[in-house]
Amino acid sequence: MTLLKFQHIMSNEIAKRAFFSRPPEPPANILINEPLKAIFIGTTKIFKVPFSWSFANLTNPHMAVVGITGAGKSYFVKTFLIRASYIWGTNAVIIDWASEYKAWVRQSGGTVISLGKGDYLNIMDLSGMKPLDRVKQIITSFDILTDISEYPEQRRLTEEALEQAYVNAGFIISEKPPPNKDAPTLKDAISLLEEHLQDGTYEYPAELENAIYRLRQFAREGEDYFARKSTLDMVELANSGLVDIDLSNLPDEKFRALAALFILQTLKERMRFEGYAEGKGLKTLVVLDEAWKVASDEKSDAVTIVREGRKYQFGLIVASQNPTDINEAIFSNVGTTFILRIRFEKFMNYLQGSLNFSEFIKSEISRFGVGQAAVDMAFQTALRFPEVFVLDRIKGEEPLYVYTVDMSDVLTQSELSAALIQRDYQFEGDELKNKLIEYNVPGDAITSIFSTVDSQGRSIKMLDFVRLLISGGAQTNDIVGFLKSLSIEDMLITRIISAATGGA
Ligand SMILES: Nc1ncnc2c1ncn2[C@@H]1O[C@H](COP(=O)(O)OP(=O)(O)OP(=O)(O)O)[C@@H](O)[C@H]1O
Ligand SMILES: [Mg+2]
Repeated sequence: MTLLKFQHIMSNEIAKRAFFSRPPEPPANILINEPLKAIFIGTTKIFKVPFSWSFANLTNPHMAVVGITGAGKSYFVKTFLIRASYIWGTNAVIIDWASEYKAWVRQSGGTVISLGKGDYLNIMDLSGMKPLDRVKQIITSFDILTDISEYPEQRRLTEEALEQAYVNAGFIISEKPPPNKDAPTLKDAISLLEEHLQDGTYEYPAELENAIYRLRQFAREGEDYFARKSTLDMVELANSGLVDIDLSNLPDEKFRALAALFILQTLKERMRFEGYAEGKGLKTLVVLDEAWKVASDEKSDAVTIVREGRKYQFGLIVASQNPTDINEAIFSNVGTTFILRIRFEKFMNYLQGSLNFSEFIKSEISRFGVGQAAVDMAFQTALRFPEVFVLDRIKGEEPLYVYTVDMSDVLTQSELSAALIQRDYQFEGDELKNKLIEYNVPGDAITSIFSTVDSQGRSIKMLDFVRLLISGGAQTNDIVGFLKSLSIEDMLITRIISAATGGA
């Protein structure tokens, strides 16, 4: 038996072996695309190649963006939308859950729609659809948002009432509607159910009462945002440049989700209606940021858009702090995933399991600061290079000020050389400020902390930082809360506090 075995092999064969020839970054010809046909995102970490995104070779134009709060998801989305509009004239509809994009859209000259504050949507509007199909969609929305599917009789009664409301308003339910004919509203369907209850002919009045009760939630005086004549034309909105649909004024999550589902349904119909589009770019992008109820249900049209969007040049961007909130049918099918800073091991493992990246990439991700990202792209043809690579930083339109709190005065030599201990913490300026406010650090102390840290190149050692907090009047339990929020272990926090207060 020999210990070594020699093999004759041609050098071009060796070169093909990924192990020898491929660092974890795709080749430059994949990363660099024609500037007028692709969207610049940032430079790669290893070779500093300027990466511009194009979906020409990808399975589809859809994207998932994941990362903890403050990681830079919304910042990325804004940068992307602006550049897509410059390059391709792409329209964007942002389903804005928490009013995160409103100010920016206004500033960029876009249109802001405030549902619940002056603007209404009639969820029975047809936008060219057959009433029967619309009724099915409304029922699907109720299936997603309520437990109506467990009450088949109530579900059936509701469906019938919706259909009848269209008939009474002069529609033929299996045919496309004539243009400019006003759709009925949920209030008409409720009246029909009430009449039915009053005529006393129905065997199970309790079922009827419950069906009425369910629909009324969306039609109460003052909360009838979806049960009145629409003030907006969704079809027009899909072609109006940058549009923010602000949902934050609706009373609760259920209303927000109903609005989001309706908007997606209408946009999906629009996409199918407009049909196959020739041309290189993207016509419309729909953004769902933290809309977990809408992104997580497989019956949601977010899934349909992901399945069909490519041929219509219609893209969906789903952003979330929690990757497991994004339905698998979406997450495993999007053409591109941007992974920003991730904190929880279980999310990291989930991402690694589904995107199949190396331990090297995983350790890179675990050290990300604000705006840094790993990119996964799913190509149409199998390629011989790793699909996940790391960007130095997403290069956006706004400046980034990174503040570093350095742990070198807290950790021992052996801890400093250990792989798993975090050696510093990075924050974007606003994020750090907000955190300090959240932990009750007095305002004048925040100002003086920033001027001290700014004067030393936006970096400070942990003990000095904690001493500044203490002398600025922060309470010990707030400082502990702040440190905990960085996922620092209790033992280490105790060490930090006692060293900082003991003057060590
Ligand atoms: N690549 C970047 N370059 C410059 N600034 C950035 C970058 N990424 C993020 N920022 C800044 O960091 C802060 C937080 O970013 P952002 O609001 O996008 O986080 P997020 O991931 O959307 O958080 P949340 O989940 O809380 O909405 C913002 O002030 C933003 O301007
Ligand atoms: Mg955000």
